[in-house]
Amino acid sequence: MPEPGSHPSPAAAPRPASKQSWLAAQGRLPLAFMGLALIWLLVATTLLVAHPGLLGMPHAAPPVIALTHSWMLGFFVTVACGAVYQLVPVALTTTLWKENLGWWHFWLHAVGVPGMVFFFQSYQLKWVALFATAVILGVLLFTVNTWVTVGRSTRRDVVAWAIILAAGWLCLAVLAGLFLALNRLFTWVPVAPLALLRMHAHLGLIGFFLALLQGVAFQLIPMFTMGEVRDWGPAKAGLWFSQAGLVALVPALIWQWAVLTYLGAVAVTIGLVFSGYGLQQSLTTRKKRKLDPGIAVFLRGGIGIYAAALAGIALTLPDSTRSTAVGGFNPMIYALLGILGGLMPCIAGMMCKVVPFLTWMRVYGPLVGRRPTPPAHSLTHPRLEYWGLGLQQFAVLPLLVGAWWSSQLWLHLGAWLLAVGVVLFLADMVGVMKHLWLPATAPAPGPALKPKLTASQTK
Ligand code: HEM
Repeated sequence: MPEPGSHPSPAAAPRPASKQSWLAAQGRLPLAFMGLALIWLLVATTLLVAHPGLLGMPHAAPPVIALTHSWMLGFFVTVACGAVYQLVPVALTTTLWKENLGWWHFWLHAVGVPGMVFFFQSYQLKWVALFATAVILGVLLFTVNTWVTVGRSTRRDVVAWAIILAAGWLCLAVLAGLFLALNRLFTWVPVAPLALLRMHAHLGLIGFFLALLQGVAFQLIPMFTMGEVRDWGPAKAGLWFSQAGLVALVPALIWQWAVLTYLGAVAVTIGLVFSGYGLQQSLTTRKKRKLDPGIAVFLRGGIGIYAAALAGIALTLPDSTRSTAVGGFNPMIYALLGILGGLMPCIAGMMCKVVPFLTWMRVYGPLVGRRPTPPAHSLTHPRLEYWGLGLQQFAVLPLLVGAWWSSQLWLHLGAWLLAVGVVLFLADMVGVMKHLWLPATAPAPGPALKPKLTASQTK
C-alpha cells in the first residue's frame, strides 16, 4: 500500500489488479465506517465538552458509562472495524469474503450504538440490551467475515494472528457487555458487578484494540515509512505475551485474584515492551526519514499506552486501595492515559494515513494512466493535521490534572483543548473526504511521491 502519486511510478505499475480493483470498487465499506466514526467523534467530544465533570465522577456512574461507550463503540470500534475491512484484503492480498455482510454490520452498528448510548444515560438496561443485540449481531458478522477472509489467505504471521485474535476478543467483549447488562437486571450469577465491568472493559481494550495495534502496526508502519520488518521475533513475542497476560487477567478480574491480576498486567506490559522494540527495529530500516504527523502521532500513542500499563500495574498491586476512589491516583487516570493518551493518537494518526489513501484509491485510482491525478498526500492539510493531533494530545495533561485534583477548572480546560483539536482534525478529514463528491479536476500542486517497494512490501 505505497502512497499513490500522480505520475506513473514503480509503485503504481506492479500493483496486483485484484487489490487495486477491490479498493476502487469496495473501498466504500471502510470509508463508510470511517465517516460514521467521524460523526461519533463529534458527538462524543460534544458530550465531553458539555459535561467535563463526568471525568471526576466514579467511573461506573451511568452518564460516565454512556460517555465511555460513545467514545469506545461510537468512535474507536467503528474506525477500527473500518480499518480491518480495508487492511485485511490489502495485507492478505485477497478480497473480503462477503462485502454485503460488512454492510449489514455497518447498519446494525449505525442503529445499535446510538440507542445504547441514549439509554445508558438513564440506565434503562432493558433498552440498552435491545440495541446492544443489534451491535452484537454486527460484530458477529464482522468476526465471521474477517476469520473466513484470513482463513482463505495463506498469510499466518503476527499480522494475520492479531486480526484473528482481535476479532475474537471483540466478540467476547460485546457478549460480556450484554451479559453485564442482563445480570444487573436478573442477577443470574452472584458476581460483583464492578468485577464483571472490569473484565468486560479489558476484553475490549486489551483483547481488541491492543491486539490489533500489536499486529497492524507491523503492516502499516513499514508501509508508510518505506521500511521493513527484518526480524519478526519481537513482534511475535509482543503479541503472545500480551495475549497470555489477558488470558490470566480475565478470570483474575472476575474472581478478584489479586496476585494473578498483577501477573497478568505484568505479562501484558512485557508484551508491549517487545512490540515497541520490534517496531523501533523496523523504523531503523525506513527509507522515508522524516515522519508524517500521522505516523509520528501514532508512535507517540505508544507512550500513552506504556504509561497506562504502568498505571494499571500500580492499581493491581496487592496493597492498592485505589480501586474505586475518585480523585488522586484512581482508575479514571488509568483510563485517560490508555484511551485518550494512547488509543486516541494511534487511531487518529492512523486515520490521517488511511482515509486519504482510501479516498484516493476510490476517486483517482480508476483514472491512473488515463489522466493526471493528484498525489494522495496532497488530499490532506498538514497544518490542520499537526495542530489537530497536537492539541488532542496536549489536552490529556489538563484532563489528568483535573481527574487527579478533582478540579472542574482543569477538566473544563482539557475538554475544550481536546474539542479544538478534534474540530481541526475533523476539518482535515472532511477536506479529504470531500474528494469523494468533488474530485479535483487538475493535479494539486506539490511534489508527487515516487516510492519504491521494498522486498517486504511486495510480499
Ligand atoms: C454490545 C456492546 C456492549 C455492551 C452491551 C456493553 C455494556 C456495558 C455495560 C452494561 C457496562 C456497565 C456495567 C455496569 O453498570 O456494571 C459497561 C461498561 C464498560 N464498557 Fe461496555 N459494552 C459494550 C461494548 C463495549 C466495548 C466494545 C468496549 C471497548 C473497550 C466497552 C468498554 C467499556 C468500559 C471501558 C466500561 C467501563 C465504563 C466505566 O467504567 O465508565 N464496552 N459496558
